[in-house]
Amino acid sequence: MTSSNQHFHQQHTEHSTEHNTQQSNQPLSTYQQLHSHAASAPELFWQQQAALLDWFEAPTQILTQQDGDHYQWFADGVLNTCYLALDSQVKQGRGDQTALIYDSPVTGSKRNYSYLQLLDEVALFAGVLQQQGVGKGDRVVIYLPMIPQAVIAMLAVARLGAVHSVVFGGFSAHELALRIDDATPKVIVSASCGIEINRLIAYKPLLDEALELAQHQVSHCIIFQREQLVAELQPGRDLDWNQAMTSASPAACVPVKATDPLYILYTSGTTGKPKGVVRDNGGHAVALSYSMRTIYDCGPGDVFFAASDVGWVVGHSYIVYAPLIAGCTSILYEGKPVFTPDAGAFWRLCAEYKVKVLFAAPTAFRAVRKEDPEAALQTYDLSALKYIFMAGERLDPATYYWVTDKIGKPVIDHWWQTETGWAISANLAGVALLPAKAGSATVPVPGYQVEILSDDGSRLGPKEQGYIAIQLPLPPGCLSTIWGNDDRFVDGYLRTFPGYYASGDGGYLDEDGYLFVMGRTDDVINVAGHRLSTGEMEQIVASHPAVAECCVIGIHEAIKGQQPLAMVLLKNGSVIEESVLEAELAAMVRKEIGALACFKKAIIVKRLPKTRSGKILRKLLRQIAAGSEYSIPSTIDDPACLAEIQHIMAEKQLVGQL
Ligand code: COA
Ligand code: AMP
Repeated sequence: MTSSNQHFHQQHTEHSTEHNTQQSNQPLSTYQQLHSHAASAPELFWQQQAALLDWFEAPTQILTQQDGDHYQWFADGVLNTCYLALDSQVKQGRGDQTALIYDSPVTGSKRNYSYLQLLDEVALFAGVLQQQGVGKGDRVVIYLPMIPQAVIAMLAVARLGAVHSVVFGGFSAHELALRIDDATPKVIVSASCGIEINRLIAYKPLLDEALELAQHQVSHCIIFQREQLVAELQPGRDLDWNQAMTSASPAACVPVKATDPLYILYTSGTTGKPKGVVRDNGGHAVALSYSMRTIYDCGPGDVFFAASDVGWVVGHSYIVYAPLIAGCTSILYEGKPVFTPDAGAFWRLCAEYKVKVLFAAPTAFRAVRKEDPEAALQTYDLSALKYIFMAGERLDPATYYWVTDKIGKPVIDHWWQTETGWAISANLAGVALLPAKAGSATVPVPGYQVEILSDDGSRLGPKEQGYIAIQLPLPPGCLSTIWGNDDRFVDGYLRTFPGYYASGDGGYLDEDGYLFVMGRTDDVINVAGHRLSTGEMEQIVASHPAVAECCVIGIHEAIKGQQPLAMVLLKNGSVIEESVLEAELAAMVRKEIGALACFKKAIIVKRLPKTRSGKILRKLLRQIAAGSEYSIPSTIDDPACLAEIQHIMAEKQLVGQL
């Protein structure tokens, strides 16, 4: 261990004690002052943050309440998000600084883009989109792997004041079609293929199939041809990216209102239909730039590595927009934490590019630990690395301690959701680090007022577990609605606890105000940091001809945190081996949702626990699967079935938790 590591360890141990020393109270009071300033004078607080951006017209209306619980930030401000990310950076003298580093072990290639080069490419591709009729407010679906063209396409759409909707490459044609029908794009941007470990994923046939499944038809698809697999283009509909670039002229930034949508990002809800989270331009830019300074301690010239995918919110916020708006260098990594080529990949990248902040999902580190338990592959100079941030799922204490001990850098768990777009709870590296507590995402970020509520909406005290809710108004950057379905926004988030945003997560605050996020309270699960709906899987499982009834829950998985498990009741007279049914269901879910669902397990049961009114007691099943204590509700129809299910799960070694 290096001497700086030792220093960190000493601090970490001291700060982990129950009673803070006088010295460690100072960061706490600094944080508390900041938090209460944001809570008591939100308009002043956010006006000061907004003033740091390069608006076309600075906002004078900071927070306005629309009808009911709808709020708008910076309603009369005018800006362009691409301008903030690129043009404004060049204007400030960062033209020659590296904006984006593409590092792709799966293709053996690397490329750096300076701010000026990225601006040129983006402006030209915006010209291509303009030629295809894309203008302000039009939607563009982006279905691309982790290549620079994904970043270029997103920024180009933003440049035109249009609205992008990026679809993660691991999704099936069916999922892509759902999103095409909901977002109704004018144009789709895609590539010939993606590259997984030792495997090519042909994107173009998936796109063609999605367009056959979708009701909505696009005027054009722009396809980036990769040398690993060249796709066949459909004459009249498909354009080759490179050819289109040769005949385009650069497009200028289109001014938009702060409240105009920048993007739609679909996420899993409790039903089969994904929800299109809508992000505005102004609040998003202000929140992300604030987060870079306050949460991540990053400014111009710092190197930020978010090891996620542009298809997820982490990728939107911290591979693309936030690092560029903050004048940093962002890393776009087309590889995995392991096997590309080994579990030292993250450390190699951090050393090679002098990364200051590494941000990844706990799953990634569990995979690294499995392959390299002693971190023997960490032979690199990590002196530039200051913090390791984690999010996307609960950071289990074992992973927290492993990374802390082996790497010797502060590990910061922070909690957020696609809906918020940036962290709700974190340890503020840019203010002063508070003593860490394993299992906690530290404290609510200034701007968020987090409370723990009971079933009836009353406030719970320290260490009492309940629903995590955020007082309205939410700070800038959070979702403004669900695309095309404002009722779903209101019903899904604002109605449960009047005056609050219901997060869908459960947990508690301790006596020091630290937040512990324990997991979802609904039917959303988290597999390898990917958010999935068990309701959607249930629909697919239920469509199997042998299945009478079913229930899908998330169960423990050592690396991915959770994996889905289907409990199935067969139709009378159906005869099918459990292993055959399991394989058929796995193939169906893979086809309908995608490989990322990791659906591999199904068990046949004789009965499912239900209330007398027929509702399956999923929470009870989750508790059984976690091996937690549970009490049998008085409303249960057939309590004996619980022992039966518990027995099957124990026998098949399906019980456990991280
Ligand atoms: N395009 C196509 N297929 C994809 C894909 C993509 N972009 N991403 C994943 N898949 C496929 C994988 O190839 C795999 O297919 P398989 O069942 O045929 O092997 C399946 O989806 C599951 O993928 P994944 O969950 O990534 O598992 P893995 O075993 O390949 O890798 C980890 C395990 C831990 C290395 C990987 O899950 C990981 O890096 N996780 C971090 C996740 C993350 O960053 N989440 C973002 C939240 S911040
Ligand atoms: P997504 O919208 O895909 O980012 O997933 C958001 C969900 O992931 C949250 O609602 C949580 O359930 C979970 N999550 C994200 N970050 C954390 C964290 N730091 N701790 C616990 N759960 C988390």
